[in-house]
Amino acid sequence: MKVDTLITNIGQLLTMDKKGPVKGSDMNDLTVMEGAAVATENGKIVWIGSAEKAVNIHADKTIDADGKLVTPGLVEPHTHLVFGGSREEEMALKQQGVPYLEILKQGGGILSTVNATREASYDDLLKKALFHLDRMAMHGITTVEAKSGYGLDKQTELKQLHVTKEANVKHPLDIVSTFLGAHAIPPEYKEDPEAFLGLMSELFDEIKEKNLAEFVDIFTETGVFSVEQSRRYLKKAKEKGFGLKIHADEIDQLGGTELAVEVGAISGEHLAVASDNGIKQLASSNTIGVILPGTVFYLGKDTYPRAREMIDEGAAIAVSTDFNPGSSVTENLQLIMSIAALKLKLTPTEIWHAVTVNAAHAIGRGHEAGTIATGRMGDLVIWDAPNYMYIPYHYGVNHANTVIKNGEVLYK
Ligand code: NIG
Ligand code: FE
Repeated sequence: MKVDTLITNIGQLLTMDKKGPVKGSDMNDLTVMEGAAVATENGKIVWIGSAEKAVNIHADKTIDADGKLVTPGLVEPHTHLVFGGSREEEMALKQQGVPYLEILKQGGGILSTVNATREASYDDLLKKALFHLDRMAMHGITTVEAKSGYGLDKQTELKQLHVTKEANVKHPLDIVSTFLGAHAIPPEYKEDPEAFLGLMSELFDEIKEKNLAEFVDIFTETGVFSVEQSRRYLKKAKEKGFGLKIHADEIDQLGGTELAVEVGAISGEHLAVASDNGIKQLASSNTIGVILPGTVFYLGKDTYPRAREMIDEGAAIAVSTDFNPGSSVTENLQLIMSIAALKLKLTPTEIWHAVTVNAAHAIGRGHEAGTIATGRMGDLVIWDAPNYMYIPYHYGVNHANTVIKNGEVLYK
């Protein structure tokens, strides 16, 4: 057999090769292959077996994993990738106890990033997005979801979406695009959120035609959009053929989790204050809970999403950074894996499902990403770690030794 790339001498290999999304107690069931090897050809995985058998394979390039841990490339299912400026001055306000929604109400928060994004040129936004993508890649991410939502006018939302599309072409990482025009109410529409949602939904056709986004998302929150408004808006999006996502029950318990299930969203995201009923409904649905514990940490709160209960009830959970300039400023999903262990009480096995196979399903990529199996994309990470439990355990640093995207070394 002749292949492009052979990764051999793997200590532990996590293939995460399961029919996902992986729900409930199945998230705690892990197959670990010891002493394995993986081969890729034309960017795809073509062979998985023991390192002993791999000696018969002729590879153009052989990578010795030196007994280290190898997993699928991480899948990051929720980011606000494209934005102008930064918001470091908000940290002092947070320290003084000014709540996140209060900062927003005063025209700061998301709205300050909206101003910076409106002012930024297309090229500057692209350059910045590519920078953050490099950093994600360095930390072991090989597929990422990216939301718009810092334009809040037609022109700037489209600018963000076009930047995302070009970044997907220019950067080796795969980007899945989500239209989050309904992220906040801009000052021009302060008195008329309905009219604003109308304006954003006028973009649906163009976004579809130009293939600028696969999903439509909305921030269902006090002072932003109500459950009723969200329902109507999302139904319109569904009719136009978009998959649905919701920023649900992040700060106030409005019933966004229940709404995500009701409208058949692919994911309900945040769910930090989901109700008992919301958790039950999530567990008996096909909607994946995308959990963002870094946001709770970064907003200085202590009400973490009840992901433990969600899994115990039978739900499928993914975990993400929520990378954005306000509520969670990090590209390091490994750090979030540690927070998931410490604050959500998830096991390392559950966490690996949450950042690979389930994260891929949460962004409609379950068929190609998040799993090491023949025919899948050759996206793998060699970690400076002796076993899979080590990554959440040793926190706050980058453990990625070699990141391989489509069979090519992207970062070493
Ligand atoms: O997921 N909640 C709304 N959106 C983001 C925060 C965006 C921002 O603060 O810029 C979130 O937390
Ligand atoms: Fe978010």
